[in-house]
Amino acid sequence: MVKRRLSILGSTGSIGRSTVDVIDHLGGTKTFDIIALTGGSNAKKLAEQALALRPEIAVISNEAALAELQALLSGSGIETAAGDTAVIEAAGRRADWTMSAIAGAAGLRPTLEAIRAGSAIGLANKESMVCAGPLVTAEAKRANIPILPVDSEHNAIFQVFNEAQRDTIERIILTASGGPFRTFTLQQMQKVTPAQALAHPNWSMGAGISLDSATMFNKGLELIEAAHLFDMPSEKIEIVVHPQSVIHSMVGYSDGSVLAQMGEPDMRTPIANALGWPQRVSTSVERLDFRKFSRLDFEMPDETRFPALRIARETLEAGGLAPCAMNAAKEVAAEAFLNERLAFLDLAAIVDQVLERIDLHGTAENLNDILGADCEARRVAAEEIASGRFRGP
Ligand SMILES: NC(=O)c1ccc[n+]([C@@H]2O[C@H](COP(=O)([O-])OP(=O)(O)OC[C@H]3O[C@@H](n4cnc5c(N)ncnc54)[C@H](OP(=O)(O)O)[C@@H]3O)[C@@H](O)[C@H]2O)c1
Repeated sequence: MVKRRLSILGSTGSIGRSTVDVIDHLGGTKTFDIIALTGGSNAKKLAEQALALRPEIAVISNEAALAELQALLSGSGIETAAGDTAVIEAAGRRADWTMSAIAGAAGLRPTLEAIRAGSAIGLANKESMVCAGPLVTAEAKRANIPILPVDSEHNAIFQVFNEAQRDTIERIILTASGGPFRTFTLQQMQKVTPAQALAHPNWSMGAGISLDSATMFNKGLELIEAAHLFDMPSEKIEIVVHPQSVIHSMVGYSDGSVLAQMGEPDMRTPIANALGWPQRVSTSVERLDFRKFSRLDFEMPDETRFPALRIARETLEAGGLAPCAMNAAKEVAAEAFLNERLAFLDLAAIVDQVLERIDLHGTAENLNDILGADCEARRVAAEEIASGRFRGP
């Protein structure tokens, strides 16, 4: 039997490691040929994964980590490389399926390269869709490959969104856990620390998405991602807070039916769904035990305490390069918050400020325009942070 050829972009991260776990459960190198593994700075983890999965190439984006990677893989016969260009080149090697799991806007170019090379995409890197939804979907159409959502909400929608009944779909309902500050007052939120913001109540994730869940920028990014993935307008996408994270999202139809996908909050389920599609494959994920919870709660999100939701919807409705600029400003502000240079509530304030100041030219169909907007928003965000107008913690 011909083995499927897989690549994992961002294999050393939280989604990357869960993907390796799913692959191992399905037989590892007995079932799959691994083409490329890429990491950011963690040479040790990347080498360990490479020795187990025997990819053609292991690439680390941080050039300073190359010597360590080479030393750890010396004599293994596995090719090594470093730098952003090398990550993009590796993403473009012929594979049947690629996990796109680099964190942040840095994932866009490798994801586009994998699409252009004709690989089906397991899409965890929501920022690709947020920054460049029209470009990514057009390239996928041109290459005739599927984009298989890995974000748990979008994977849930994907499982219950009947394309043949698209005309009867009234709404998508994205569920949100509400993050660690769901019940906090604005006063309490002003004082929260990075450690508190990174401690998600239900999911174990990388730092970027954990902080985004605390501000609810993550749900804002997911709103934009859903609009592009399912070609739905903003007014047909609702957000509902569901603190137990058991229902991962829902689709409402014209006869009043609402279809939901449920499961343990474990990313190996959506990863396996995207990897196995259109079949289903097995995982070792814990099965939902209905004796463990006696109720499912739902609340409306509060845009006063979580202005990220308003900002994201405004950028989705503005279209063009606004979502890309929002994401870039948010990434810069997030780093400043984690380095204790900003207070938690300043995160959304910085993004608002950047979107007010920035002059965006171009379209989200053009990569140069997108990269230009990303760069300009980062510059303006850094300027705002350095201005001292935000008080910090
Ligand atoms: N974690 C989740 O449960 C979850 C759920 C849904 C969606 N997602 C999305 O999936 C993506 C990854 O999230 P994550 O939680 O797995 O993040 P993570 O744990 O921070 O891992 C990110 C991965 O990207 C690599 N990386 C970081 N910066 C890079 C750069 N500039 N160039 C190339 N590689 C770089 C990291 O390398 P090193 O670690 O080696 O530095 C790591 O392999 C994000 O877009 C996130 O929103 C995550």
